[in-house]
Amino acid sequence: MKTILITGCSSGFGLETARHFLDRDWTVIATMRTPREDVLPRSDRLRILRLDVTDADSIGRAVEQAGPVDVLVNNAGIGLLGALEGVTMDGVREIFATNTFGAMAMTQALLPQFRARKSGVIVNVTSSVTLKPLHLLSVYTASKAAVNAFTESLALELEPFNIRTHLVLPGRAPDTAFGENARSRMRDAIPEAYAPLAQSVFAAWQQPGPVTHAADVAETVWRAATDPSCPMRLAAGADAVALASA
Ligand SMILES: NC(=O)c1ccc[n+]([C@@H]2O[C@H](COP(=O)([O-])OP(=O)(O)OC[C@H]3O[C@@H](n4cnc5c(N)ncnc54)[C@H](OP(=O)(O)O)[C@@H]3O)[C@@H](O)[C@H]2O)c1
Repeated sequence: MKTILITGCSSGFGLETARHFLDRDWTVIATMRTPREDVLPRSDRLRILRLDVTDADSIGRAVEQAGPVDVLVNNAGIGLLGALEGVTMDGVREIFATNTFGAMAMTQALLPQFRARKSGVIVNVTSSVTLKPLHLLSVYTASKAAVNAFTESLALELEPFNIRTHLVLPGRAPDTAFGENARSRMRDAIPEAYAPLAQSVFAAWQQPGPVTHAADVAETVWRAATDPSCPMRLAAGADAVALASA
């Protein structure tokens, strides 16, 4: 029986991915900053562990408690919509601490066991905003584009150890808590001069069009985890797939 460890399972893509693998008889280590037993079905194949990917001690404890893991999914992430002028450098560091350095630190923590066993899969969830730049997302996009470049270079050094790396690029998913969770960071992020631009961005989101659902991401992570012949980069969701094939 295979074991997957997923970061950021309290909601959205991480939660749906945990459900998807549980339904398919995997052992799931669902990690959360604030562990909650009630968001996933009870199962003797489910373990919920506390993990904050920005905290080295938390990472050390979680990886020790987890034991052997076959697949790591770096899904935990935070968003920020705003003009660069409206974001402090502490705000920039906060985004990178979770989205970029968190994924690197988790990967570093799992690699020794993957290398020793000469097997393992690392799936990094980034974003389709790295395929086509969008307004007011410069810092967030940079944090995810860094993970893309990191993953593609890392793949080369891990190949001799039979460790696979994949990127899952979801499109915009208005159904998850992502936008709401980002709201507190956006308070001063849109200075007056950028307000008309922000209005046009919000208006565009109201237009009908393809979006991404959490199930699309879970299925794509499943493909990355279970199909060794699949491409390194996988778009997830109708909008992301359209962008990737444009
Ligand atoms: N939704 C979209 O439109 C979209 C599009 C493309 C890519 N993505 C990416 O997909 C991933 C999942 O997003 P989502 O839509 O599922 O959003 P979400 O519902 O907000 O889920 C994000 C998860 O990350 C967790 N998290 C945040 N900071 C953390 C930290 N320091 N340590 C551990 N966990 C942390 C959150 O936990 P708490 O409950 O503790 O905050 C939450 O469980 C993110 O990496 C995001 O950047 C999202």
